[in-house]
Amino acid sequence: MTEYFENFGIENTEKTLRLAVSKAKEGITDIVLASSYGDTAKKLVEILEEENLSVNLVVITYHQGFSGPDVKSMPEDIKEMLLKKGVKVYSGTHALSGVERGISKKFGGYGPVEVIAQTLKTLGQGIKVCYEITVMAADSGNISTKKDVIAIGGSGKGADSAVVIRPANMNTFFDIELKEIICMPKNKK
Ligand SMILES: Cc1cc2nc3c(=O)[nH]c(=O)nc-3n(C[C@H](O)[C@H](O)[C@H](O)COP(=O)(O)O)c2cc1C
Repeated sequence: MTEYFENFGIENTEKTLRLAVSKAKEGITDIVLASSYGDTAKKLVEILEEENLSVNLVVITYHQGFSGPDVKSMPEDIKEMLLKKGVKVYSGTHALSGVERGISKKFGGYGPVEVIAQTLKTLGQGIKVCYEITVMAADSGNISTKKDVIAIGGSGKGADSAVVIRPANMNTFFDIELKEIICMPKNKK
C-alpha cells in the first residue's frame, strides 16, 4: 500500500525512512538514500540500529562542485562517521544531468537527459531522485542490477519518497523498473 503525504518536504522524513525500513524487513537487502549534507543518512542509520536491521546502505551526495568549485556537500566528519558504521558514501556525476547540465547552463535549452529528469519530476522531485541515485549506486558498483533495491529521495532536503526499484546502469537506463511506490507526496515542489 502506497502512503501518500499531503505535501512534499522534509517534514515527511521520519515517516518515509520508517516505511522504507519496514519494507526492507520483507527481504530487501539494499537501500540507496539521497543525503546531500548527511542529516537524512544519520537519521536512517539511527532507525536501522534501533530496528536491529543490517542492510547494504548506499548514501549518495551531491557531486563535488555542485554548489561551487570543489565544494563537497557532505562534511568530512559525517562521512567518516558513516563509513565507520559500514555505510557506503558515493559522490559522483549526477546520472540525470551530467555534462548536459554544463551545456544547458552555457547555451540554454534542454537535452534529452534533462528532459527525462523533468518528466520524472511530474511524479515528484523525490521519485526523480530515486531513479537517479539508483543508477549512480549501480554505476559506482555499490549495488547489483540483478535484484530490487529500495531508493529514498526528497524535495531539496530530507526524504519524502521511497520506492522499490530494479536498478539499471546509465548505459541501459531504460531497463530500470519501478516496482512499488512505498510513499510519495501528493503536492509536489
Ligand atoms: C544526486 C542528487 C540529486 C538530487 N536532485 C534533486 C532534485 O532534482 N530535486 C530536489 O528537490 N532534490 C534533489 N536532491 C535532494 C534529495 O532528494 C534529498 O532531499 C537530499 O539529498 C537530502 O539531503 P539531506 O540529508 O542533507 O537533507 C538531490 C540529491 C542528490 C544527492
